[in-house]
Formats: sequence, structure tokens, C-alpha cells
Amino acid sequence: MRAVVDMNPELPKGTVHVWWGTVGDVRAHHRDLLGEQERERLAQLRRDGDAARFVMGCALIRLAVAGYTGVAPGEVPVIRECDGCGGPHGKPRVAVGGSIELSLSHAGEHIALAVARETPLGIDVESDDGTIDLPRLAPRVLSSAEVPGYAELAESERRHRVLSVWTCKEAALKATGDGLRFPMNRLGVADPEGAPRLTHWEGRPWLVEEMRLTRLDAPPGYAAVLAVLGPPGSAVRHGEFAHLTALAEGHGRAARSAATSRAASARSATLFTLPTPASGSASAGTSRSGSL
Ligand SMILES: CC(C)(COP(=O)(O)OP(=O)(O)OC[C@H]1O[C@@H](n2cnc3c(N)ncnc32)[C@H](O)[C@@H]1OP(=O)(O)O)[C@@H](O)C(=O)NCCC(=O)NCCS
Repeated sequence: MRAVVDMNPELPKGTVHVWWGTVGDVRAHHRDLLGEQERERLAQLRRDGDAARFVMGCALIRLAVAGYTGVAPGEVPVIRECDGCGGPHGKPRVAVGGSIELSLSHAGEHIALAVARETPLGIDVESDDGTIDLPRLAPRVLSSAEVPGYAELAESERRHRVLSVWTCKEAALKATGDGLRFPMNRLGVADPEGAPRLTHWEGRPWLVEEMRLTRLDAPPGYAAVLAVLGPPGSAVRHGEFAHLTALAEGHGRAARSAATSRAASARSATLFTLPTPASGSASAGTSRSGSL
């Protein structure tokens, strides 16, 4: 069944919404939301979990954009053309809602979608499950300026440093749309574990000033960073997929039973606005919040 969303939620300029889903949230009907090219990609996914992560990513994009625009989730036109080869696996964009910018990341059990208006952004979530030999990747990840600090670290801290720098740089490279075609070791990041900021971008120095990084409060065992190409001060709000789904279904029902009610539409907007931790409201999001 395709949930139909009828609401006019708030996504004010200067606010980033980060919607989180898990592999366990995926239901059979979410596959119905996929477009033809997405179904073809799904059919090629063989590894455990890849299919569920992909479906959840598609569902997050469609349900969130449906919420912001009022377009039915299954009809949200998602464009995934790769800048490199033209294939259907690039940075997702939506041909609806004008200025909505998206970035998606999946790792392990978790999938995150960052959304903003008029502000290119990138999100990266990584799992530190011990399966990747992170120190072996250090030469590809660290710039020459970052190597001395890394070399001074205790063996036990090196893995964490590579993961931290990786998430910062991948988020930044996803914000520009380069992805890993641009070598990570040509970017510099200061304070990657705390309040990260770019210090260097080979060939594009203006990005050091224009890109803001923020470390997100990720689920235990995961690291997550958001990169935003725009002025400082964006507020970051988080929401869970379960809420997005309930909201979409609730709006469908509300729209059918009270199509002309102004009160209903006002309530819809209130429901969708993600609370700040200080507001004390629990249903829409988690306590993860911040600004950059
Ligand atoms: C983008 C990239 C960094 C993602 O790396 P990853 O560790 O697999 O994954 P994440 O889960 O964090 O992100 C994947 C999502 O990034 C998005 N994405 C893909 N290309 C992107 C790009 N160039 N810029 C920003 N986001 C991109 C997609 O939404 C993708 O989700 P999907 O697979 O469900 O479509 C990596 O795939 C990449 O560098 N791609 C571009 C170059 C490339 O190899 N292209 C393929 C052949 S041309």
C-alpha cells in the first residue's frame, strides 16, 4: 500500500533535518515506493543487508520529500544520475519542491537522510564494527599535514582517528557531489573527533570557508558527520523513520476524513516540526540536535 501524504510541514531555510531509519524498519510495502531504475539496482544487490539498506534509503527520501511537498511518496521523482558516468547511482536529487537538497548514507543497521532547502549538504555514517582494517587505509585518508599527529597516537587510538577523519571527509565530498572520485588525502580536517572543520581543500580553497562540518550524535558503535555548504548557523534536527511513516499514514487518514479542515492542516504542520530537546516533546525525534 502506498501511503499518501497530505501535509505542509516546515523545513525552513537554515534548518537541516536528519531522518534515521534502520534495516529493521523495512516492510514489504516499502519496495512498492521504488522507481524502475531503483528496482533494477535492488535486483542486483546480493549481499546480506544491502537490499534492506537500499530500500530504506529510497523510502526515507520518498516519505520525507512527500511530507515537505505534498506529493504522494510513490510519485516523488527521484533523480540519481551519476555526474561521473550518467548511471543511476549518483547523489539523489528530487525534481519537485524546488530547492530541496538531499544526502543519504547507510552503514550496518542504520540509514540516514539529511535534507535542507537551498543548501547543498552531505552526510556520512560509518560503522566501527572492526571488520575494516582502518589503519591500513590511513595513507588514502590522511593528508600529509595530518600524518605527523596520527603517527604520535597510540596504536589503540589510530583506528578511531582514521574513522573520524574519514567520516568528515566523506561527508564533505558528498556535499560537493565529488564522492570518492576526489582523493580524501587532498583535504585537511582539524579536530575530527570534536568540532571538526576543514583546513585544506587542494585546488578549491574557498570550500574551507564555505563548508561547515558537524559531528552528529550517532547510534552506539557508529560515527556520523554532516557537511553543509552554506552560511553558519544551520540548526540540525533529527527524526526517526517510524515517526515519518506514522505521520505519512496519519496524514493520509486525516486528509480523507477532514479534507477541508483548517484545524487539521495546522495540526499536521505542528506534528511534522521536529522538536528541539528543550521542548521536551518525545514523539517526533530523538534528543539528537545541534547547530553548525
Ligand atoms: C558517494 C560515495 C562516497 C558513497 O560511499 P559509500 O561509503 O558507499 O556510502 P554511503 O552509504 O555513505 O552513501 C551512499 C549514497 O551516497 C549517494 N551518492 C552516490 N554518489 C554520490 C556523490 N557523487 N555525491 C554525493 N552522494 C552520492 C547515494 O545516495 C548513495 O546511496 P544509494 O547507494 O542508496 O544510491 C561513493 O559511492 C562514491 O564516491 N561514488 C562516486 C564515484 C563512484 O565510484 N561512482 C561509481 C562509478 S561512476
